[in-house]
Amino acid sequence: MRSASAAAALFFFFVAYCGVPHVHGGEVVAELFYTNVTVKWHADYERQLVEFSIWFGAKRPDLLFVGFSDFGDLNSTDGLLISHREIKDVHTTRAYRIRPDLQQDFQQLRKRKDHIVVTRKLVTCDSRDYVFQPGTTQFHIAASWGFTTLTNILDKRWLKDKKFGKVIEGPTDYPSADDEPASLEKDVKIVIVNSNNPDPIPNVETTYECIIRKMPFDTISSMYHIVRMEPYITPGNEHLVHHMEVFICRDEVEEWNGNCNDPKKPPKSKSCSHVIAAWAMGEGPIIYPREAGLPFGGKGRNEYVMVEIHYNNPELLQGVMDKSGFQFYVTGMLRKYDAGIMELGLIYSDANSIPPNQKAWAMNGYCPSQCTQNLPEEGINIFASQMHAHLTGRKLWTSRYRSGVQIGDVNRDEHYSPHWQHLQQLRPFVRVMPGDTLVTTCVYDTRRRSKVTFGGYGITDEMCVNYIYYYPASDVEVCKSAISNVTLREYFTQRHLMNGHSMSISDMYNKVKDWGNGVDEEFYNVLNVGNINMNCLKSNGEPHKFYTSDPRQSWENMPKPKLFSGSFIWTRDRFQCPAINDMVNFD
Ligand SMILES: *[C@@H]1O[C@H](CO)[C@@H](O)[C@H](O)[C@H]1NC(C)=O
Ligand SMILES: *[C@@H]1O[C@H](CO)[C@@H](O)[C@H](O)[C@H]1NC(C)=O
Ligand SMILES: *[C@@H]1O[C@H](CO)[C@@H](O)[C@H](O)[C@H]1NC(C)=O
Repeated sequence: MRSASAAAALFFFFVAYCGVPHVHGGEVVAELFYTNVTVKWHADYERQLVEFSIWFGAKRPDLLFVGFSDFGDLNSTDGLLISHREIKDVHTTRAYRIRPDLQQDFQQLRKRKDHIVVTRKLVTCDSRDYVFQPGTTQFHIAASWGFTTLTNILDKRWLKDKKFGKVIEGPTDYPSADDEPASLEKDVKIVIVNSNNPDPIPNVETTYECIIRKMPFDTISSMYHIVRMEPYITPGNEHLVHHMEVFICRDEVEEWNGNCNDPKKPPKSKSCSHVIAAWAMGEGPIIYPREAGLPFGGKGRNEYVMVEIHYNNPELLQGVMDKSGFQFYVTGMLRKYDAGIMELGLIYSDANSIPPNQKAWAMNGYCPSQCTQNLPEEGINIFASQMHAHLTGRKLWTSRYRSGVQIGDVNRDEHYSPHWQHLQQLRPFVRVMPGDTLVTTCVYDTRRRSKVTFGGYGITDEMCVNYIYYYPASDVEVCKSAISNVTLREYFTQRHLMNGHSMSISDMYNKVKDWGNGVDEEFYNVLNVGNINMNCLKSNGEPHKFYTSDPRQSWENMPKPKLFSGSFIWTRDRFQCPAINDMVNFD
């Protein structure tokens, strides 16, 4: 399992959202040894179709297969087969054979020596076609030279590459005229905060490296705006730098570089707790809208930043030197609004753990009205969202509720891949008012695990996070939940006759020997109706005040928000209008 995930982690590439988020098209480039095949697309929502142009590159393949899927399977998947003579709408069978579809849904618009242009409806209602929906699509691109009759996609004579993309963006991602990419101010300075650790990356699976640096100019007497941030990664180490977080320090620290758990780490680095950016493998830069920038410095704020790098080294490589870090674009010409970042989802805690052998285990992280009350009166505008889970994460989304009623999504990916993290630009901005509730849902597949998957920081632990980037800034930095410890301890004590007062929560999870026989279903219900434990934190790490007239309630033990979800969410009827994406349901 570990080596599979490690291999998959190598299918890694950068998506540069080069400041043009409103273009609702995209491309992937497959490297196929003799040539690079480029697949570009453009979705036309009015005509409900997508136009693909497929560029053959330096050496046109004699046979080219472009496959589409939600989760990267090569069997029971949709595809387009291109030969010199014709194009064919095809699919692969369970046994990986390539077969033409009975109904042909691709139309060829143009055929040239170096490329072709085809279109297809987003939804065809052919049970052998893939439905293009918002969320991640995995592309399998396979080419052969000299062999024009390959009938099995696993045939060794194919050269293959896998890529990730979003063919259609969420419903919030329609282009808008006032969304010109921001140009950078004339005085922009670039500041690089990167590792100068003289020792190589440790040959252990997970390492957190901390880099604390002072900004190289006076940030006490004047304030600055950070208007763009991007990773600065040592070439060749792309597969080791799993994710990074950037913090501002409140106290006067000192420059330092080393393992985050090193006891010699300056004690004042505890004050480096205000998150300003999160980045994960596969992501491009973080670009601010032209009316907002991330405040840095000024009276009462400090001059130090801390970059925390999570290295993932499953092959236990030795002696790899690294100088990775983060790069900031800083201006003194302040923009109209200060921007902020907020962390939604589940608290990193083993309270939030997942039983083994679950096909689709959903967990909800709440940001209830008691916490969003602290947002600015005029509300906040979310312009980007970055969802994050580890290896068993399959579907992630955040919805918003007003007066308990669901009014829409912030971001949604129903076929999330942990190997393709990306910052999703949201256009138009998603507005959240004080008193709204945000619910972040993560659905996990633990069918390949025989033990409990704990909530936590390690790569084999799980997380459920949505970092939202927004303006104007507020003092809510974390709004995350867990099932309350009181609920959990009661459950394990009463149902499993454990000593819920002295055992640790992870021990109690581990001690449940059989999650089958309905135990998982029963526990799922406890998770969904039990009290929650909230982190509603200010940027200094302190909790906001909790208002209640009920003395039994606190942030640690409060009722789950009461929410109504209508049956109004649009879904494709998979019986009337089937698609190959549904195949997994025939299991
Ligand atoms: C494909 O693209 C990569 C990256 O840009 C480049 O290094 C390589 O030379 C290209 N290969 C061919 C065959 O054009
Ligand atoms: C793909 O093949 C694997 C292994 O043969 C099988 O377990 C799986 O069910 C197949 N998937 C689909 C969607 O047919
Ligand atoms: C709940 O338990 C977890 C450990 O499982 C612990 O980290 C956390 O601090 C506890 N929370 C509260 C509010 O006691």
